Amino acid sequence: MKKEDKPDFGEFKANPLADKTIVLGVSGGIAAYKACDLASLMRHAGANVHTILTPAATQFVSALTFQTLTRNQAHCQQFADDIDWRPEHIDLAQKADLFVIAPATANIIAKLASGICDDLLTTTVLATKAKVLLAPAMNPRMLEHPATQNNLAILENQFRYKIVPPETGEVACGDWGAGKMASLDSIMAAIQGQLFSHQTLAGKNILVTAGGTREPIDPVRFIGNKSSGKMGIAMADAAYARGAAVKLISTVAVDRPYPVIVVETALEMQEVVEGEFDSCDALVMTAAVADFRPLAVSVQKIKKNVSEDFTLELTKNPDILDLLGQIKRPDQVIIGFAAESEELLSNTAEKLQRKNLDVIVGNDISVPDIGFGSDDNAVVIMSVSAERETLPRMPKRAIAEHLCDVISQALLEKQESGLTI
Ligand code: PMT
Repeated sequence: MKKEDKPDFGEFKANPLADKTIVLGVSGGIAAYKACDLASLMRHAGANVHTILTPAATQFVSALTFQTLTRNQAHCQQFADDIDWRPEHIDLAQKADLFVIAPATANIIAKLASGICDDLLTTTVLATKAKVLLAPAMNPRMLEHPATQNNLAILENQFRYKIVPPETGEVACGDWGAGKMASLDSIMAAIQGQLFSHQTLAGKNILVTAGGTREPIDPVRFIGNKSSGKMGIAMADAAYARGAAVKLISTVAVDRPYPVIVVETALEMQEVVEGEFDSCDALVMTAAVADFRPLAVSVQKIKKNVSEDFTLELTKNPDILDLLGQIKRPDQVIIGFAAESEELLSNTAEKLQRKNLDVIVGNDISVPDIGFGSDDNAVVIMSVSAERETLPRMPKRAIAEHLCDVISQALLEKQESGLTI
């Protein structure tokens, strides 16, 4: 492909953190070993990563590890011998676009909440004007303790630090509960959310569906489809990065800093989406919902030796989008997707009208390597105002970024035309 033929990805970049300087603060907990992978992920996403380790962190991981992974000197000492005229903490504090403290122990959380700066990391955080993101990790009882909860509330509500909530599970000491550091996927999504300056969906509630439903036949078999959930997850990530309050209803479980409700069947998806619909400003249905389900689900595994032929009776599933299209408020925006193997334009346009959608995104699933399961897609976007836009093959995240613009525009138009209730 010639350079000028490359699709315009708008805000999307293959290296989403390119040109960003991130200071990674590592405090002294066992999850410090995960910070090595985080440093590597951030560097591969294009960021210029500088690491500061607390003295306790160096008991778990070494500065050399981070130096090698980030290709920048890692810092530990507050009073280094080789200091320049300008103290190191001031330099790093000013360079940073973002501070990421992962793991953040109860100790560093307490120090930051009360402004104590007795090591290089706390001193540098106090001296920065950059945004600060914390990924707490500690024993569940330490996390539950009112002292830690109060400190986190101060950091979040007064200092506006972003907290990526810890997960629930078995922690290193063998206890069970909330306290495991959030997954690296969650932290990376939150980092992108913090670094995106254009919060064009701030204050908006966006509901996204993702994945393919599974309709059970018996305890082990189901009718499914090839949807991987990638399009919907990219959509939810992009909307979150734009400041929206996102809820993802997905057949695929993912760790994200926003709520993810995992469902299996079309009926389950219908129940959750209908329950959430009223409180959303925009719904994006990327999910491949099964049109039919087995009329009866066998309690026992169906035996193959019953007869030579086997007939499975199916019944129609409700069309979630169709139902919501009929009851949507004038201020709500609904975006559907259409997976078409023929007559892309006419079939997509027909679904836009029939389901009373604001926008529909048609993808030609007969084209190999795009759509189902792929990282890329190529789509035609149609809106009720009869506008049509064709996006050539590009990463699903780039399409999602574009759809965020479409959503902002559609919401704005509704607001301006006085349709907001
Ligand atoms: O998940 P990926 O691997 O990333 O793949 C992405 C995708 C190909 C699944 C996605 O881009 C896509 O095309 N999603 C829509 C798939 C689909 O079900 O198309 P449809 O033409 O059958 O349905 C049209 C719309 O109605 C869709 O928004 C669908 O969510 C909705 N629908 C369909 C049936 C049904 N019973 N209820 C619905 O709400």
